Amino acid sequence: MERKDVRIRRLWAEDDQLEECIGPINALLRVLSEDKPKPYQIDLGDLMLALDSDDFALYVLEVDGEIAGMGSLHFHRTLTKQTAYIEDVVVLPRFHGKGFGKMIMRRLIDHAKEEEVRFIELTSHPRRIAANKLYQKLGFVIPETNLYRLFLE
Ligand SMILES: CC(C)(COP(=O)(O)OP(=O)(O)OC[C@H]1O[C@@H](n2cnc3c(N)ncnc32)[C@H](O)[C@@H]1OP(=O)(O)O)[C@@H](O)C(=O)NCCC(=O)NCCS
Repeated sequence: MERKDVRIRRLWAEDDQLEECIGPINALLRVLSEDKPKPYQIDLGDLMLALDSDDFALYVLEVDGEIAGMGSLHFHRTLTKQTAYIEDVVVLPRFHGKGFGKMIMRRLIDHAKEEEVRFIELTSHPRRIAANKLYQKLGFVIPETNLYRLFLE
C-alpha cells in the first residue's frame, strides 16, 4: 500500500497560508457539528483572533498536505493552578480508524505537559462512542465533581 506523509503542525496567526486553511477547518467543523441544527463555522478574522491568544493552540493533522483532522488546547490559569482544556478534536470520516485522532490527542497532551499544567479536561457527549473510547484509552477519567453550566443564550 502507498505510504502517506502524515504530520501534525501548529497553526499560527502569522501563517502565510492561513487563508487556505479556512475551507478545510470549516469542513472539520461541519463533521463536529453534524448533530447540531446549525453547523459550526469560523471566518479568517475569528480564526486569527483565536490564534493570536497566548492561551490557545490549534493543531492540524495533514495527510499528504491535506488537512484531515484537528484539535485545540486552551490554557486556564487561576490563583491556585494552571489547567488545560481540549476542544475541537475531529478527523474527516474517510480518515477514521487510522490512529489520527490518537495522534492529535497525544500532541495536545504533550503540549500541555510542556506547560506543566496540573490536569487536562474535556467534555464529550456519551453518544460520541469513538471519542469517549479514545479519551478513556488515553487515561482520561470522569472526575468526582459537579459540572455546572449557566446557559446565557
Ligand atoms: C473521535 C475521532 C476524532 C477519532 O478519530 P480516529 O482517527 O478515527 O481515531 P483513532 O483511529 O485514532 O482511534 C483511537 C481510538 O479511538 C477508539 N475508536 C476509534 N474509532 C472507534 C469506533 N468507531 N468505535 C469505538 N471506538 C473507536 C478506539 O479506542 C481507538 O483505539 P484502538 O484503535 O487502539 O482501538 C473521530 O471518530 C471523529 O472525528 N469523530 C467525530 C467528531 C467527534 O466526535 N469528535 C469528538 C468531540 S468530543
